[in-house]
Amino acid sequence: MTARTDMLRLHDLEPTTGEFRRAVIDGLGATPKTLPCKFLYDGEGSRLFEAICDLPEYYPTRTELAILGDRAPEMAAEIGSRAGIVEFGSGAGIKIRLLLAALDAPAAYIPVDISREALVAAARALAADFPGLHIAPVCADYTRPFALPAIGGRMPETMAGFFPGSTIGNFAPSEAVAFLARARRLLGAGAVMLVGADLPKDRAVLEAAYDDAAGVTAAFNRNLLVRMRRELGAELDLDGFRHEARWCPRHRRVEMHLVSLSRQEIRLGAHRFPFERGETIHTESSHKYAVPEFRALAGRSGWLPARTWTDAGDRFAVHLLRTG
Ligand code: AVI
Repeated sequence: MTARTDMLRLHDLEPTTGEFRRAVIDGLGATPKTLPCKFLYDGEGSRLFEAICDLPEYYPTRTELAILGDRAPEMAAEIGSRAGIVEFGSGAGIKIRLLLAALDAPAAYIPVDISREALVAAARALAADFPGLHIAPVCADYTRPFALPAIGGRMPETMAGFFPGSTIGNFAPSEAVAFLARARRLLGAGAVMLVGADLPKDRAVLEAAYDDAAGVTAAFNRNLLVRMRRELGAELDLDGFRHEARWCPRHRRVEMHLVSLSRQEIRLGAHRFPFERGETIHTESSHKYAVPEFRALAGRSGWLPARTWTDAGDRFAVHLLRTG
């Protein structure tokens, strides 16, 4: 094995088709019908999500990138030298470049992502741009407990979690607290964590961000139906559902739904899932946290909120948490 491939050894814990099948049976059998949003991210879903990030209506990515672009040196100073960075849900790996470039002698980078294809492609590209960096990609569902791979070589001085993109908003608040508490245990004493969290704003801005004019978010949502048919052999009418994004003020979240256009059913083996016209599958929630709300949530998970950076338009926040 060459030095380069050794720098890039994949730890593969990707969810199986069996898990997807179980989730579909449980979710479509529930009232109201629901599916876990992590299944949005197969290879095609990850590609569609990258396209969403470039849409004019989808402000979170470019706003967070601008915050990182301006403030990465301050964040890097807070993290310190020779850090080991664990990125939860690493995707295309654009944001981490800004942080890595600002950090003093980062020791290792461990990207964790559910999509093996996207993970490997991003890790390869990063290895080419940061040749001295030890990269240990982990293909895993980071919403569940997993172990960090042995890093080898230079031991990091500090462990730093990186969770950008407001993906924290895709958890229910109680799940977000549990995830942050798990990340704290995984990273260990003395660790820090940077978390991006979208801020509440006007309904029109939020709903447009999740229902763009070009229909990319609709395709991203409907890809769940495509996966059900292709991977599980489900019998369903792909044109029988439409995408919907709704701001729900009570829960301070944007919800994505697949709305049934008629009375129909989805069949999966011996299972039958009847739909009324207008009945929906709730496929994703994207919670929006005001700064004090997010700090309180982080505090409930045992982290100490230390600093927050926002953009001039108060659209998005990046929070720095410490273990103590
Ligand atoms: C990954 N996550 C933070 C995105 C969000 O904004 O909730 C997923 C997404 N869903 C629709 N558009 C983007």
